[in-house]
Amino acid sequence: PVKDRVEDLLKRMTLEEKVGQMNQFVGIEHFKSAQASLTAEELRTNTANAFYPNTTVEDMIKWTETGRIGSFLHVLTLKEANYLQSLAMKSRLQIPIIFGIDAIHGNANAPDNTVYPTNIGLASSFDLDMAYKIARQTAQEMRAMNMHWTFNPNVEVARDARWGRVGETYGEDPYLVTLMGVQSVKGYQGNMNGKEDVLACIKHFVGGSEPLNGTNGAPADLSERTLREVFFPPFKAGVEAGAMSLMTAHNELNGVPCHTNEWLMEDVLRKEWKFPGFVVSDWMDIEHTHDLHATAENIKEAFYQSIMAGMDMHMHGILWNEYVVELVKEGRIPESRIDESVRRILDVKFRLGLFENPYADEKQSMKIRLSDEHRATALEAARNGIVLLKNSGVLPLSQDKYKKVLVTGINANDMNILGDWSAVQKEENVTTILEGLKMIAPQTNFDFVDQGWDPRNMSQAKVDEAADKAKDADLNIVVAGEYMMRFRWKDRTGGEDTDRSDIDLVGLQNELIKKVAASGKPTILILVNGRQLGVEWAAENLPAIVEAWEPGMYGGQAVAEILYGKVNPSAKLAVTIPRSVGQLQMIYNHKPSQYFHPYVVKPSTPLYPFGYGLSYTTYKYDDLTLDKSEIGKDGNVNVSVKVTNTGNRDGVEIVQLYIRDKFSCVTRPVKELKDFARVALKAGESKIVKFNVTPDKLAFYDKKMNWQVEPGEFVVMVGTSSEDSALLKRSFLVK
Ligand code: IFM
Repeated sequence: PVKDRVEDLLKRMTLEEKVGQMNQFVGIEHFKSAQASLTAEELRTNTANAFYPNTTVEDMIKWTETGRIGSFLHVLTLKEANYLQSLAMKSRLQIPIIFGIDAIHGNANAPDNTVYPTNIGLASSFDLDMAYKIARQTAQEMRAMNMHWTFNPNVEVARDARWGRVGETYGEDPYLVTLMGVQSVKGYQGNMNGKEDVLACIKHFVGGSEPLNGTNGAPADLSERTLREVFFPPFKAGVEAGAMSLMTAHNELNGVPCHTNEWLMEDVLRKEWKFPGFVVSDWMDIEHTHDLHATAENIKEAFYQSIMAGMDMHMHGILWNEYVVELVKEGRIPESRIDESVRRILDVKFRLGLFENPYADEKQSMKIRLSDEHRATALEAARNGIVLLKNSGVLPLSQDKYKKVLVTGINANDMNILGDWSAVQKEENVTTILEGLKMIAPQTNFDFVDQGWDPRNMSQAKVDEAADKAKDADLNIVVAGEYMMRFRWKDRTGGEDTDRSDIDLVGLQNELIKKVAASGKPTILILVNGRQLGVEWAAENLPAIVEAWEPGMYGGQAVAEILYGKVNPSAKLAVTIPRSVGQLQMIYNHKPSQYFHPYVVKPSTPLYPFGYGLSYTTYKYDDLTLDKSEIGKDGNVNVSVKVTNTGNRDGVEIVQLYIRDKFSCVTRPVKELKDFARVALKAGESKIVKFNVTPDKLAFYDKKMNWQVEPGEFVVMVGTSSEDSALLKRSFLVK
């Protein structure tokens, strides 16, 4: 059994080897290019990145050969992974390296892999089977590159559109985030024993999605109630689903940095939830408790605090091995504490079969990656995740009617549709939106005015050129949004570390839209972005808006299929779209008093609500029925509703069930999503959709923070979005 193998190995390890297992280092190629990009002065002083002048690639090789590095991250080629592994195989005990990578939507950070839509688009499909399938395929592609560990799913609940990372989350609703996260964990990990399984990492624990000013890593000040009701559930469920690693968050939580937070790592995670896996730090964040949060007087003290609070693995940095060994030798950290962490790490390495299969086969690799099946999944996921926000009748487009079409905007012909956490991929593996349009509407004459990729550096001349050409076109398509591709890290406007103090379109994009629309020709807006954008003018003035999110490698095809009606859109928003930054926090599951005094001058309603999304057909909801009008605290209620496709196209409707506890001892949200179903309906077809309301869907934390079902009236709401007017309602009593 694995346990015996772990104990046997542990007994034979020196202290230095044990501490080495807790050490993760960046790959050689990344290290070299990072060093090359820094000045001598930066190298000397930049502890935040720890690419020190005195460290060389030869050092990294030596450390690996002597078992001082247990894990690498950011290794982007199979060749490098196999090479590093061969170094580890020279070490005394031949403990294999576990390679970690941010495979957030496919193993997209590495070249030649399938790139699926990012998590926000996936969540908009409400398609849990798809979440599982993408994770499974990603695991296969990762193992084919000798990658064993993805830093995903990101199960943070994202309720602040200023934060740049909304696109890599499953949105604002704890229930949807939880289910998406669970399916992803299961898909990645499989049985945690096969050659196709990888380790999942639920992250970032916790509160980083709700920083005080919307900027990544800023303090989170969240009550225990908010943590337990909103932020903890996806993590707890991830642990229950078997996730064997977890990453702590950059931020401090209520005054204590998450990286040295014993309450989080020991009391909640290990004691309460019985997490058996290991905790990894985020990039140099243990060091940041010294040089940023200032809760540790020096880096050695930071390591001490973090390990004693429950940390198992340190992500990148050269001081770890030396200081941690010293801390043990000085008697400050008991060796038994180190053993605990090493046990957890070795356990995962054995389970994943790394000792038996330390390498991946270069000849087989490309047979698995980018397979036809995986490409087809990427396309299907893109189709299912694109949300039709507005359509006053212009869509689906007719090739007969619109013979000449102007296409413009920063995202019209750019690989940026791949989204954050993606490397540049080969052109033949990406269909841009312009290419998709040409493919799907071959009889149309598309006139393209390139606006460049950078919204901050758009040219007035190009905007004016598009405005001129719009007059000659029968229809205009403006593809706007944000720029997320990482290879232009410093110039991006969306993605990690690209937080905003507003949520408007950047640069001349609004002017472009308005000037093109001034042509008087129908103008359609396509958005490519990760965070919500407050496109209020467009919502009021344009006939159609499509939110594509970051739709992945076949995003261009999927957008075009939707525009031309080859695909009937079905996605629904996994986040509320606010009108402006001043409306934040704008969420559907707010407390009852949130809009007791609405804003003056501007509306208090969102631009588009959670759960909203249009189709080319229409659905009618009837006969919402509860099988009981009263239940006990342990009882459950069967709910049924008749849904009819009343239009003349087949479609898929995402039927949503919300619950409100009418009166309660503590304030409760006005509604909470508690179930949903993706229902395929042919034109004219009706189906009875059934749900079961179980006690866990009614329970909450009472005044003493006990999890309980309270007697009283509960309202069940079923319909097509979270908007009140879109929901049928019935009540039942809990006695
Ligand atoms: O996994 C990521 C994390 O989400 C942000 N900081 C860097 C890590 C490794 O790339």
